Amino acid sequence: MASYLVPSIMNGVQIQRFGGPEVLQYKTDLPVPSPGYGELLVKNDYIGINYVDIYWRTGMFGPARNGIIGREAEGMIVSTGVGGVGKFKAGDRVVWLSYGSYAEYTAVPASLAFPVPDGIEPGMAAAALLQGLFALTLVEKIVKVKQGDWVLVHAAAGGVGLWLCQLLRAHGAKTIGTASTAAKLALAKDHGADYVINYKEENDLIARVKEITQGHGVDIVYDGIGRDQTENNAHVVAQQGTIVTYGATSGYPGQIAHGQLAAKKAQFVGPGENSLMRNIGGDFQLWCTKLFRTMAKHNITIHIHDTYPLSDMRKVHEDLEARSTTGKVLVKP
Ligand SMILES: NC(=O)c1ccc[n+]([C@@H]2O[C@H](COP(=O)([O-])OP(=O)(O)OC[C@H]3O[C@@H](n4cnc5c(N)ncnc54)[C@H](OP(=O)(O)O)[C@@H]3O)[C@@H](O)[C@H]2O)c1
Repeated sequence: MASYLVPSIMNGVQIQRFGGPEVLQYKTDLPVPSPGYGELLVKNDYIGINYVDIYWRTGMFGPARNGIIGREAEGMIVSTGVGGVGKFKAGDRVVWLSYGSYAEYTAVPASLAFPVPDGIEPGMAAAALLQGLFALTLVEKIVKVKQGDWVLVHAAAGGVGLWLCQLLRAHGAKTIGTASTAAKLALAKDHGADYVINYKEENDLIARVKEITQGHGVDIVYDGIGRDQTENNAHVVAQQGTIVTYGATSGYPGQIAHGQLAAKKAQFVGPGENSLMRNIGGDFQLWCTKLFRTMAKHNITIHIHDTYPLSDMRKVHEDLEARSTTGKVLVKP
């Protein structure tokens, strides 16, 4: 079996208190973790960035282990714990979904690692994993999208958004994407949105959706924005439609009067009912297999906004919060 020299200290980004991007501290002397039973020590080559990292940084989800946030990365196994790691061995390339990816090395449960399939370009597995898995569960589990459904995707040029546009095209849905700039709208169209609306400039999003759908409204709303779209969602959802809220980039979603949905026999699926880990249940390996097969079958492309060095993590978070990113952001340790 291959063996690799593992240093005792590493570069990484740590937070010692919750707050703005300034709390992200680049360190060059963090201890390299040791893999326990059932764990793999992975040398991360690419770290996937997600908007949820901001919720971790600001304390919405509580403290991170060793102050290191970040949910996913791709790299090579350099050592394994004694037992409980199945077929994984040092030298294997994996992509993983766990905690503590803002570092050169992470000890991750073998149950949450997946072999990088042949033919996947470097960085693309980390770029695909969290947002791709989540989008896949939204269209295939949370709501089963049918051919011809009208679907509204908010923040359609974001990471989850571009995935949704492509998956919905593959399902034969009619997609309306929203975004804040002309360039973002063009990107959403390139990835499968049939219609686009600039929700920053459009004064009456509700009327525009009604116009596009010829009064029908949308059968499904996918909303990762939360507060700013709560009211619009309640108005544009069609009879027996579904509003799926899964994020809060603008703040927690507001209340929708029960009567307003009941009158349309519409339903609301809130963030608590569809978090990624809940959606995939214990079936991580199965959903990963499905993810990479779907990518190949439907020619899914991942638009990489940029690849930043690990030492620039503050800038990464500033850019995300300033809404200046599109698609996926990667970081290289
Ligand atoms: N529940 C889960 O397990 C789960 C898993 C993955 C993702 N999510 C959620 O899905 C959403 C999208 O995640 P992502 O990683 O793909 O991010 P993203 O969409 O790439 O980035 C967020 C986008 O939200 C839009 N936005 C609207 N209002 C905003 C505001 N006030 N501040 C900042 N951004 C605003 C911006 O696009 P425009 O400029 O076009 O408005 C921005 O680019 C997030 O809410 C995230 O929490 C949830």
